[in-house]
Amino acid sequence: MDNHERNLSPTGRHSGTGTVGRRVFLLGESMKIEHVQLRKHGDNGGMLVALEQGRNVPFEIRRVYYIFGTKAEVRRGRHAHRNLTQMAVAVRGSVTFLLDDGTEPVEVMLNDPSRGLLLNRMVWRELYDFSEDCVLMVLADQLYDPGDYITDYGDFVRELGGSVESERMAACLAV
Ligand code: TYD
Repeated sequence: MDNHERNLSPTGRHSGTGTVGRRVFLLGESMKIEHVQLRKHGDNGGMLVALEQGRNVPFEIRRVYYIFGTKAEVRRGRHAHRNLTQMAVAVRGSVTFLLDDGTEPVEVMLNDPSRGLLLNRMVWRELYDFSEDCVLMVLADQLYDPGDYITDYGDFVRELGGSVESERMAACLAV
């Protein structure tokens, strides 16, 4: 954890529907945040960052989208994905993420175009405190699929419980 990250209280700060407290599935563990440090090319005259599949982007890039013009008071995201890996880069400005994988939620601020934030599957995310000039670019390993979204925090918790249970069962069977 660095100075861009901070753990939240056990109740988190979710604003999704149906959020009443939190269940902790993996006792004693807090969420691990994965960043990719992107090499900057250039000098005082200007900078360039290259994103390359398999080099500094650890998945097959099937989609790129960017978010801009978000009002300061707006909270975006408020969902998880069942089967989607993404990498977010604040190409300009800043934004704060709340990330929750069922352990301890973490707040991460992105404000550096040479820093990629990895967003794994089954992580609840909320985005807020967008600076007026924020341009957030997101690379994704799947095409857009509305069916992949979990938009209710209660459903997320239930599905996460199911997948943690099946992982535990698989681990037991493998022993
Ligand atoms: P959404 O994922 O809800 O974004 P946010 O959580 O940041 O508000 O998407 C907003 C709208 O954009 C929604 O109508 C779906 C559409 N959309 C696409 O058409 N393609 C995409 O790749 C994404 C991410 C969204």
